[in-house]
Amino acid sequence: MTVTEQVGGPVGVFVTGTGTEVGKTVVAAVIAHALAAGGLDVAVFKPCVTGLDELPADGLADHELLRRASGSDQTDAEIAPYRYGPPASPHLAAAMAGEEIDPERLRAAAGAAGDGAGALVCEGVGGLLVPLAPGYLVRDLAVDLGYPLAIAAVPRLGTINHTLLTIEAARAAGLEVALVVLTPWPDQPTAIEASNRETIASLGSVDVQTLPQLDLDAPATWPRLSWGR
Ligand SMILES: Nc1ncnc2c1ncn2[C@@H]1O[C@H](COP(=O)(O)OP(=O)(O)OP(=O)(O)O)[C@@H](O)[C@H]1O
Ligand SMILES: [Mg+2]
Repeated sequence: MTVTEQVGGPVGVFVTGTGTEVGKTVVAAVIAHALAAGGLDVAVFKPCVTGLDELPADGLADHELLRRASGSDQTDAEIAPYRYGPPASPHLAAAMAGEEIDPERLRAAAGAAGDGAGALVCEGVGGLLVPLAPGYLVRDLAVDLGYPLAIAAVPRLGTINHTLLTIEAARAAGLEVALVVLTPWPDQPTAIEASNRETIASLGSVDVQTLPQLDLDAPATWPRLSWGR
C-alpha cells in the first residue's frame, strides 16, 4: 500500500519507533514534508509531549518540529493535546500533573486534526508498549487510529532485536507495518550496519529504508521515503 492508496478519511501514517530518541520525529517530519510538497494539506498529531522542562533554549519540541515540517497552522493543543514538563513516560507525567490521559480525548483530537486535512502524520511516544494511561498503550492508540506504521530504528548493533520485537508487537495487534526506517544511516555503512538492514528486511518480511544525516533546518534538502513494496 502507498499512503495515497488508502481510502476513507485522510491518508495517514503512525510513526513509532523501537524506543525513545530513535528518530521518530525525524521520520515523521520527512514524511509530512514530502506529503506537503506533493500538494497535500498535511496535519500532524502527537498524543502527548513530555520533557518540555528540559528543552535546550534554542530547541524545538516535537509538536513544533512536526508543525514546521508539515507547514500546518495547527495550534500546540491541536497537535499535542497533552503536554508536560517532566521527561517521564506519559502516564507518569500525567499523574505528576494530577490527571490521567483520556483515550477518548486522544481519539477525538486525532480525528479533529485529520478532519479536512489531506493527510495525517502521527508520531507515537517512546515505543509501542509505552502506557499513555492505565490500560491504554501507544499501541492501542495506533490500533484505534488504524493507520499503517512506519518504525524508526537506529542502524547500530542491537537494532535487529529491538526492531523485530516492535514488528512482532505491531502485528500481534493487527497493525500493518508499512516500513522500517534506519536513521541516521551513515554514508559508509559498516558490515554490521549493512547486515542489520538486510537481516531486519528478511526476518521481519518488511521494507527497510534509510535516511542519511539530514540538515534538519533545511527541509528542501530532505529525501523522500517511498512506501512501495
Ligand atoms: N537522519 C537524521 N539526520 C539528523 N539527525 C537525526 C537523524 N535521525 C535521527 N537524528 C537525531 O537523533 C536524535 C533523536 O531523533 P528524534 O528526536 O527524531 O527521536 P524520537 O524517537 O522522536 O525521540 P522522542 O522519543 O524524544 O520523541 C535527534 O537529535 C535527531 O535530530
Ligand atoms: Mg520525537
